[in-house]
Amino acid sequence: MPVISFANAKGGAGKTTAALLLATELVNRGSTVTLFDADPQKWLSRWAELPNLPRGITVVSETSASSIVSQIQDAHGSTDYIIVDLEGTENLLVANAVSISDLVIVPIQGSAMDARGGAKILGLINKLQKIVQKDINHCVLLTRTSPLVKTRAMKTVHDRLAANGVKVLITPLVERAAFRDLFDFGGGLAQLPEGAVSNLDKARQNAAAYTSEIRNLLLSATSRQRWTQKHKAAS
Ligand SMILES: Nc1ncnc2c1ncn2[C@@H]1O[C@H](COP(=O)(O)OP(=O)(O)OP(=O)(O)O)[C@@H](O)[C@H]1O
Ligand SMILES: [Mg+2]
Repeated sequence: MPVISFANAKGGAGKTTAALLLATELVNRGSTVTLFDADPQKWLSRWAELPNLPRGITVVSETSASSIVSQIQDAHGSTDYIIVDLEGTENLLVANAVSISDLVIVPIQGSAMDARGGAKILGLINKLQKIVQKDINHCVLLTRTSPLVKTRAMKTVHDRLAANGVKVLITPLVERAAFRDLFDFGGGLAQLPEGAVSNLDKARQNAAAYTSEIRNLLLSATSRQRWTQKHKAAS
């Protein structure tokens, strides 16, 4: 059961939106998801109280720095994915969640290219990797990008970060009203009524491509891990 955390010390980077889109897309494909709302602002807990809560999602609202690791371990056997939405800061709860994640996604606003908060979290990941003496699989997700931005311009941003050793998801999350509306309507993009918001089909395509990319990333990380374990055992 992969644990996926969303972290960025800078507030408003799009963590909660990205966590919610991933969770709702995964349950739409038949998986079960446990969502940890580890942000005191409790956006996900409030969303879960709205109508249209998709079947397969469980939201855990109460957590703390001292309990998050055991809570995640307890949820392990009973859900297909664990997704953790973290506060826009750097604290012990963030560090604990990051250190037991199979994948840490660092959303960074693509348009502003204000990567300072992201750089802080990437620094924290590096520090934790040294402490726990293992690699923490992580990548940057560009968020709120303009639908008008040409693929080539996105590729430049992508290549610039990659040149600095930062893994960046190929699919950015575009600025879409439909993503914002989920926090008013409840549910996921599948539950939004047709025609209720502009470009709903494009928003759905974007969220689907983003979810597929993360699933593939997790699958390749798992097969890499198995390969290493097999070869360690054989040697
Ligand atoms: N791709 C997007 N398209 C449209 N609006 C977005 C998108 N991503 C985020 N937003 C909006 O930007 C604001 C901040 O997003 P969000 O709450 O997801 O960020 P966050 O990183 O979780 O913030 P915080 O650090 O406060 O927890 C919200 O109003 C959200 O609706
Ligand atoms: Mg948030």
